[in-house]
Amino acid sequence: MSSGDAVAAPVRGRATLLAVPTIVDGRGALSVAAEDWLPFTPRRLYWLHGNATEAVRGGHAHLQLRQFMIAMCGRVTIDIDDGAERQTFVLDRPDVGLLVEPIVWRDIQMSATSVLAVLASDVYKEEDYIRDYNAFHAVVGS
Ligand code: TYD
Repeated sequence: MSSGDAVAAPVRGRATLLAVPTIVDGRGALSVAAEDWLPFTPRRLYWLHGNATEAVRGGHAHLQLRQFMIAMCGRVTIDIDDGAERQTFVLDRPDVGLLVEPIVWRDIQMSATSVLAVLASDVYKEEDYIRDYNAFHAVVGS
């Protein structure tokens, strides 16, 4: 995958791998997820790290939130469930991220040393979470 290539156009209710525009020179690489490239304007950056062995995170969907997830270090496996089908994505390089649209259930498996950065379209709002899998299915109508 070359830098800046979009694997596919973002589709609501889905997740899409996107190659982050990356500048490479003799010193190494610099990747930029800027406002004019991301399909949403980020209002928050958080990151998951210091994981317990075989930690599973996520286990929820969001009603409105859009996110772009990048494994800054190590390997992160993300299971995406849109209510109809499940898809597994492996993030293991810092120049490719996963765009996760709203109304998508995600389970995230981290290794002990992996670091997952998440750019989010809004600040933290607990009312935007669906944490119950049956409630998620009721929302997606499946
Ligand atoms: P949660 O979103 O459940 O984590 P994950 O999806 O990674 O498993 O959040 C874990 C805790 O952190 C929960 O108590 C909410 C809190 N939190 C914030 O206070 N601010 C934030 O921006 C996020 C993402 C979580």
